[in-house]
Amino acid sequence: MPSLDQSQTPYADALDVYAQRDVLRLNVPGHNARRDVADRLVEYFGQEVVNRDVPPLLPGIDSGEENPLTRARELAADAWGAHATWFLTNGASQANRLAALAIAQFGGANSSVIAQRSAHSSFIDGLILSGLSPRWVLPTVDAHHGINHGISVDDFRRAVEENPDACGAYIISPSYFGAVADIEGIAAVAHDAGMPLIVDGAWGAHFGFHPNVPENPLALGADVLVSSTHKLGGSLTQSAMIHVGNGPFADRLTDILNRTLPLTQSTSYSSLLLASLDIARSALATGHAAIERSIASAESLRVAVREHPRLAVVSDGFDRFSDIVGHDPLHVSIDVSGLGRTGLEVRNTLMTEFHIELEIATDTCVVAIVGPGHEIDSARLIAALTNLVKDSGSTETSESHSLPPVGRAAMQPRDAFFAPSEIVDAAHAVGRVSADTLAAYPPGIPNVMPGEVISAEVLEFLAYTAAQRGGYVRGALTPAVDTFRVVI
Ligand SMILES: Cc1ncc(COP(=O)(O)O)c(C=O)c1O
Repeated sequence: MPSLDQSQTPYADALDVYAQRDVLRLNVPGHNARRDVADRLVEYFGQEVVNRDVPPLLPGIDSGEENPLTRARELAADAWGAHATWFLTNGASQANRLAALAIAQFGGANSSVIAQRSAHSSFIDGLILSGLSPRWVLPTVDAHHGINHGISVDDFRRAVEENPDACGAYIISPSYFGAVADIEGIAAVAHDAGMPLIVDGAWGAHFGFHPNVPENPLALGADVLVSSTHKLGGSLTQSAMIHVGNGPFADRLTDILNRTLPLTQSTSYSSLLLASLDIARSALATGHAAIERSIASAESLRVAVREHPRLAVVSDGFDRFSDIVGHDPLHVSIDVSGLGRTGLEVRNTLMTEFHIELEIATDTCVVAIVGPGHEIDSARLIAALTNLVKDSGSTETSESHSLPPVGRAAMQPRDAFFAPSEIVDAAHAVGRVSADTLAAYPPGIPNVMPGEVISAEVLEFLAYTAAQRGGYVRGALTPAVDTFRVVI
């Protein structure tokens, strides 16, 4: 429970006071907050927004001891129960790169990290930047819905036993579809082995702020929590946070993150994004009733989906997966295969014809994200979905095509990324070492990492997935995935 007055927004307030003062601005940003310098900007965003766009290190805002930005970060740490919190202006992507660079300092050059194979691309960037060597753990896969979930405690423990020299671990919870992993169990195994646990909680910024949403990972033992605050935390796009938990590595991680943050952050961080983080934190921490309304609203959508003869709730089947111990009520995952259309088709048609935007789509399902506080118009969505029913019945899925085995790691990701490379066609790629990351969607697990040997099975899987309705390969040089960047 927070102990500070969470209704306060010290940074946003200080910015507001500054913006309302009569200041002759002769510094950057060069719009100088003046209509005569930037009339289109002022007209578009409004004078207030432009006035609040200020440079860093202003006395009374973010410079000096105990300034409003420091206080805003303390309030955020208090709200999330963290040892320390940093505000970021380049998304949870920045947090993942930062986390990888931090963990590498636990093990020194060329150390290894245990990581969920479906790691977000920004964590893979972190591996390339840090030189860490990944020891992968495969998540569970729901082939019918084309989605992957998390990793189980048993699989994690096995990976720790096989890699006693690993200096840290990285998992994702919740998944893109709202599935929650057993963080308490995984953190206990990591701590017994003397390693810190990073939880990429990009999709769960609201966790812990209401008894009916899952617990915040820091309260369950996570040492580093990556939070994409702009996703479900209510701040502006690209604003994010990274938190250090109160566990055994708190002081060391805090020192490391203080030292490492400048490697990843602009020296001209956006005051607008920082203010949005301050306001979003206060709204979450004081917004119990609003969150409750959105939970009830998301539940009413799930009820309507269950009652619909052609739709189903994907999370109703989560109990089939050993790694899933809960799910986020604000992620509403809907199986639309009964409509006779693919999830992608449904998502695109809803957007273009019905002006309804959904977050994610796979071959068979779509996911609606309900922002904390949002009471959604379920009837409008259900009516639009009903309009999309095709008489032909359910769509076929590509479930029979199982994931190919991960290729042998011939080089470290960093070495392969920086090595001289060439582009070859598929026939000449087999047996060569990839310089790129390739991930076939669905389900989005990287099939090839920099440094891994490309196998004929992987090539076949990538080409097959790319040819499916809605299938694509992230990182591929061409949509048909017929050329590859390989190490010379
Ligand atoms: C699991 C995960 N981690 C990190 C990120 C990166 O977040 P951001 O868009 O805030 O950079 C994403 C984005 O979708 C994600 O899904």
